[in-house]
Amino acid sequence: MIDVERMKKEIEERLKEMQPLFSRKKSELSPERSLQRAFALARAIAVSHEVRDTYKEGHQFRVADLARAIGEQMNLDKDRITGLRLAGLIHDIGKIDIPGELLSKPTKLDESEARIMQTHVEIGHAMLKGIRFPWPVARMVWEHHERMDGSGYPRGLKGKRILLESRILAVADVVDAITSRRAYRPAREVHVAIYSMKGDRGGLYDQDVVDACLRLFDVQGYKMLDLD
Ligand SMILES: [Fe+2]
Repeated sequence: MIDVERMKKEIEERLKEMQPLFSRKKSELSPERSLQRAFALARAIAVSHEVRDTYKEGHQFRVADLARAIGEQMNLDKDRITGLRLAGLIHDIGKIDIPGELLSKPTKLDESEARIMQTHVEIGHAMLKGIRFPWPVARMVWEHHERMDGSGYPRGLKGKRILLESRILAVADVVDAITSRRAYRPAREVHVAIYSMKGDRGGLYDQDVVDACLRLFDVQGYKMLDLD
């Protein structure tokens, strides 16, 4: 039996420990050690709550790595990529407040269940917005389900009103979702995932991000992170 309340407390403690890490005045560690500690805490948070959803194990690690690689492909500066990686590792943190039956439901969610599931972005944003990261981590978590045409959630933002990092996370998130096994369907090929996004020119995803992602797999030979 998974003790969700305990898990939530542990996550909150880790977030509390993260709080002073980026404040020069409050942190007792050097900037390098602070960054290492923040990533260690983010990884611990990712591992802890992913056990609630067997089909998503390793999801945030794969998304963080793919988002980093897309960021590099798009020549984003190193510091921005660091923030992107950190947000990737905890982008689904809000799922800690989603009922376990929904996370592990072997069939597709119905409309009202999907609406509950969608609240994870706002929960995640609320959990992270008090931490003064040097990057807009809470905003990336909030926006990773927004879509270019405004059909996403929670705010229905359009195009460039969505932060570039959030648009990268959105693509990385969907590539991993499609290429991972689900209770109700097997994993699909990565190219099926990306080409379906490419066909959607100007629709749901940022085409520069999709193109960078495609180059990554086709030209650079990128492989999804294998955690086994
Ligand atoms: Fe999500």
